[in-house]
Amino acid sequence: MADSDPASFLTQANAILRKNLTYQKRNVWSNVRLIMIPFYLCLVLVGIQALFDSQVSNSLDNQCGCKCIHKTRDETCQMVCGVEYSTRDQAVFCAIPNPQPWPPLILIPLPRNRVVDANLTNVSCKQRNNCPVTILFTGNNQSLGATLSRNLFRRSFPMNYSDLLFSLADNVLATTYKGSPTNYLDAGIVSDRFIYNIQSRCTPNSKVSFSLGQSPLNFTKEMRCGQGLNLWINSSREINDDIFKGYLKGNSEGMINEIVAAYDLLDTNRTNFNVNIWYNATYQDDSGNMPPKLLRVPRLVSLMSNAYLQYLKSPRTRMLLEFVKEMPKPETKLRLDIASLIGAVFFTWVILLLFPVILTSLVYEKQQRLRIIMKMHGLGDGPYWMITYTYFLAISTSYVICLMIFGSAIGLNFFRLNDYSIHFVFYFLYINLQISLAFLASSAFSNVETASVVAYIYVFGSGLLGWLLFQFLIEELSFPRRWIFVMELYPGFSLFRGLYEFAQYAFQGSLTRRQGMKWKDISDSSMDKVFYIIIVEWFFSLIAAYYIDKMSSSGKDLLFFLKNPFNKYLLPQRPSLQKQVSAVSVEMEKLDVTQESEKVQKLMRAQRTSHAIVCNTMKKVYPGRDGNPPKMAVRGLSLAVPSGECFGMLGPNGAGKTSFINMMTGLVKPTSGSAFVQGLDICTDMDRVYTSMGVCPQHDLLWETLSGREHLFFYGRLKNLKDSKLDQAVEESLKSVNLLHGGVADKPAGKYSGGMKRRLSVAISLIGSPKVVYMDEPSTGLDPASRMNLWTVIKRAKTNTAIILTTHSMEEAEFLCDRLGIFVDGRLQCIGNPKELKGRYGGSYVLTMTTASEHEKDVEVLVQDVSPNAKKIYNIAGTQKFEIPKEEVRISEVFQAVEKAKSTLKVFAWGLADTTLEDVFIKVARSGQAFNVFS
Ligand SMILES: *[C@@H]1O[C@H](CO)[C@@H](O)[C@H](O)[C@H]1NC(C)=O
Ligand SMILES: *[C@@H]1O[C@H](CO)[C@@H](O)[C@H](O)[C@H]1NC(C)=O
Ligand SMILES: *[C@@H]1O[C@H](CO)[C@@H](O)[C@H](O)[C@H]1NC(C)=O
Ligand SMILES: *[C@@H]1O[C@H](CO)[C@@H](O)[C@H](O)[C@H]1NC(C)=O
Repeated sequence: MADSDPASFLTQANAILRKNLTYQKRNVWSNVRLIMIPFYLCLVLVGIQALFDSQVSNSLDNQCGCKCIHKTRDETCQMVCGVEYSTRDQAVFCAIPNPQPWPPLILIPLPRNRVVDANLTNVSCKQRNNCPVTILFTGNNQSLGATLSRNLFRRSFPMNYSDLLFSLADNVLATTYKGSPTNYLDAGIVSDRFIYNIQSRCTPNSKVSFSLGQSPLNFTKEMRCGQGLNLWINSSREINDDIFKGYLKGNSEGMINEIVAAYDLLDTNRTNFNVNIWYNATYQDDSGNMPPKLLRVPRLVSLMSNAYLQYLKSPRTRMLLEFVKEMPKPETKLRLDIASLIGAVFFTWVILLLFPVILTSLVYEKQQRLRIIMKMHGLGDGPYWMITYTYFLAISTSYVICLMIFGSAIGLNFFRLNDYSIHFVFYFLYINLQISLAFLASSAFSNVETASVVAYIYVFGSGLLGWLLFQFLIEELSFPRRWIFVMELYPGFSLFRGLYEFAQYAFQGSLTRRQGMKWKDISDSSMDKVFYIIIVEWFFSLIAAYYIDKMSSSGKDLLFFLKNPFNKYLLPQRPSLQKQVSAVSVEMEKLDVTQESEKVQKLMRAQRTSHAIVCNTMKKVYPGRDGNPPKMAVRGLSLAVPSGECFGMLGPNGAGKTSFINMMTGLVKPTSGSAFVQGLDICTDMDRVYTSMGVCPQHDLLWETLSGREHLFFYGRLKNLKDSKLDQAVEESLKSVNLLHGGVADKPAGKYSGGMKRRLSVAISLIGSPKVVYMDEPSTGLDPASRMNLWTVIKRAKTNTAIILTTHSMEEAEFLCDRLGIFVDGRLQCIGNPKELKGRYGGSYVLTMTTASEHEKDVEVLVQDVSPNAKKIYNIAGTQKFEIPKEEVRISEVFQAVEKAKSTLKVFAWGLADTTLEDVFIKVARSGQAFNVFS
């Protein structure tokens, strides 16, 4: 019925895809809930923003001041707003139709940073805090330079208050305050620092004060004299050197040497004015924003052109730069974009939140052994990876798309201002990395709870560290950028960095009403590095995850190169132990077991074999833990099972049956020995073995939400059944295990009773007529009717299949199995078909007789008469059991003896029974264990 070829990659992929689709369809609400998470989180952001707006932005302090004007007729209030009704704090938010003109200032260094002589080394004035303000000169004509520099500063302090701006502009006004982004208020004048008037000679303690602006934006300022110093330097190269030495690093004394500006007069002469100006453009205002850098420069230009004009014409000539003035502005409001401010950490959490979801789902499949059971039915790693990866990618992609849509719909600048395609590419790359990392991490966990705890720690830890530590380091410009790069190698930080850049651009954009990040910005914002890191890490983690998965699922030890030498020194006694064990097993082996192993030896030498399963002296030793000695679970097992045979494995709990099944199904590797299934070595060819194997595990491994029919369709497809064959096989399978009536087949397996699950598991193991089937206690928990039914199914299935089943039910073993092996303490004690075994081990009848206890002796005498070799095996309160060798008695003699006894003593009950398989089992198990107690 089944195709003998194993299912192709695409067939397998198709099977698991359809299964997952059905599974996810049932799960649709939890998926929708997951995808809706960004929506709720975005709502939280909007809430915070609304709260901020109502409490801070809309508070009276943060808007233009207004006043109520009463109209005479109706008592209604008319609000008039404007600078004149505002406090100074409110005024900046008002409409400013005619901004205040400010006198142009130049920027000078703080007194302690100033340079003082041509060698830039004198430090004494720095201690006294009265260093002059230095301007450097160079050019081709030193005498011209001297003339011009004399014209630069006024000698006296002419103030004409009736034309204040003109007279201020005629002086050289300077500030140490660095500036602000707008010039509605000149920070140099508004701030509480001094204004300096730079003069070539200062009269001590000369101070002048003046006021500027209209109420409430009026400022009274005290102006001090600042000593100007012009220094001639021989060449522009030397100026470059000096500035370079002064810049940031300081000179040999560790002092910073800053100059105001430097002029290179080049070839200036009477007919030709040509000048280069050095000025310091690296300054920032105190809030870290870059102000318009040129704001302080125009005065430096006008300074020199005036000096030249005076040299050309006369000392009285003036061509003044009288004031600078901002553009008019409308009324504004304080608008802080909270989403952009906290966006980096917030969205880091939102996106990282997918990690625990993916990880726990992967670990769940591992913990519930669903992954391995699929594998045992022939699902290759490739299709599993492809489909699972694609599913997570689809879910994550929908998640981030929803995030972007909700975020934009709600109006977050974080999304609206930056280019959507950068957003998408960034998230898409990152979720790919995240999925591969989850795959990689899943190999380290076997428990869902541990995995989810660790994953959530990762999520919140990364967000918080990013916010509190990494962001601080990014903003600290003196922190080396290459260490930032190294930190970004940590995936949580690379995500954080990307989102941080989005947030920065969005915040700037919302302040300046411009667009945020565009593709052309991505190398400025170091987004490109983040992209490269993510792509490279994605690639490597995917490869590593695949490699580790392959290694661990094929039972190989990843760190074998570390462990081998270690073992050698730790367990020097190991070879001797093994020798001892093999000596014992030789002594112990029974004839039938020896015959079986000879048969296996012969089969091993033969080229081809009709035997589906051949195990050759398989051993499994679990290494000792915590000081316990190594545990020998299987001590050398040889077994050959031909196709069409059902081999039953009996044995007490803990005898090693499950270890044996685990080895045969590829869950664990044998310590030594080998096994061949259909001629394929289970140590090397397990993947191909799986394609013709069925397993019914001891505990049902089913998906709660999938129906019985869907399970069978899935496993049927894995066994390469197609179209009508598949339908037919599923239908037959359902019928044979009695799951068809009452619509049971279409109910979710989670609602099944224990017996129904069991039947479904058996049906799964048999679908597609696998060549080899392992059943671990298939009929536990079934009612007698279903059990009978199931047995018929198994019996029918075994015609061209080799079945190995373990059971505790002797009835089942007798009914189903062609041969039985009793497995005690890791070793087969006997092997043969049920009748043979009974004959061999049970060559006796069991006579039970119950009398009053004072007659026990009489009964014993009577039995001795019938059979001198009878053995008493049981005696309690007058009930005695005797074993009577078959060859010594005939049943009729026993009857006669009992009749005779009845006449002399009172027999309450008696019975004569042939040995059952159960007796054999108990006997063999007991002898096997007894031996091992002494060995
Ligand atoms: C240098 O400038 C002075 C005027 O200050 C002028 O008299 C002189 O000729 C100039 N020298 C040269 C070499 O151009
Ligand atoms: C001050 O400026 C006014 C207006 O330009 C002018 O009329 C007056 O003469 C000036 N006073 C002095 C002392 O220069
Ligand atoms: C500058 O050049 C003049 C003459 O060309 C020379 O006397 C003087 O030492 C030089 N100064 C420096 C600092 O090199
Ligand atoms: C330029 O300005 C920066 C920032 O204010 C300052 O640290 C630096 O020392 C200045 N450089 C010079 C040569 O003045």
